[in-house]
Amino acid sequence: MKKIAFALVTLTLVSAASARTFDQIKKDGTIIIATEGAFQPFNYFKGQTLTGFEVDLANALAKQMGLKVKWVTQPFDSLLIGLNQNRYDFVIASHGITPERQKAVDFSNPHYCTGGAIVSRTGGPKTVADLKGKTVAVQVGTTYLENVQKVAGVGKVNTYPKDTDAQQALLAGRADAWVSDKFGGLDAIKASSGKLQQGALLFQERIAMAVKKNNPTLLKALNDALVAAQKNGTYAKISQQYFGQDVRCR
Ligand code: ARG
Repeated sequence: MKKIAFALVTLTLVSAASARTFDQIKKDGTIIIATEGAFQPFNYFKGQTLTGFEVDLANALAKQMGLKVKWVTQPFDSLLIGLNQNRYDFVIASHGITPERQKAVDFSNPHYCTGGAIVSRTGGPKTVADLKGKTVAVQVGTTYLENVQKVAGVGKVNTYPKDTDAQQALLAGRADAWVSDKFGGLDAIKASSGKLQQGALLFQERIAMAVKKNNPTLLKALNDALVAAQKNGTYAKISQQYFGQDVRCR
């Protein structure tokens, strides 16, 4: 709680200088986008190359807007802070829309819908009730942490800087369960050759891009580009490629 409060104070203090408007970005010709780069299959590195559903989608949106892209990668829990320091124009890093975050940034319309799910080693906890007395691993600063903390009776919640660290803690037996994105969890299960299993969905969420507050022109440009991509088949194609289904919110 203290950490969150501190982060919000920081965000408020540094937001005095204004962000680039859509006109200013257009004039420059290059939009600067930030993500984490460690959250497969949404934003991650394949060798040296930044890729994933959100990376491909944001590149497509930029193309639609007639812009070149410069990518910046940063730890997840500093992404919204950097946004409010004008280090980049927007963030696409699987942020669920929450009232707490809405105090600090503006969100676009959601670019996909998903949920947080339990993953455990085969034979481990699968339901919310099973989490009683268990150690759960989650990435810091996420809605997974927020929601696991609401589950009564959980033994211990361990936080890690990266979601992959939380996954490793589960695989190494330092945690009984890992709560993460349901699609990311499924990929990890597939890659684990029978070691991991999917448990219950803890909560559902709408995922959106974050823009600095009071930047209506950029927010509108992003929302318009997303609508266009969802109409012209670009979105469906990228979504199929990563998930074998269309993950847009309905
Ligand atoms: N969807 C979750 C949240 O809103 C997790 C996002 C994690 N993103 C990442 N790039 N690691 O907090």
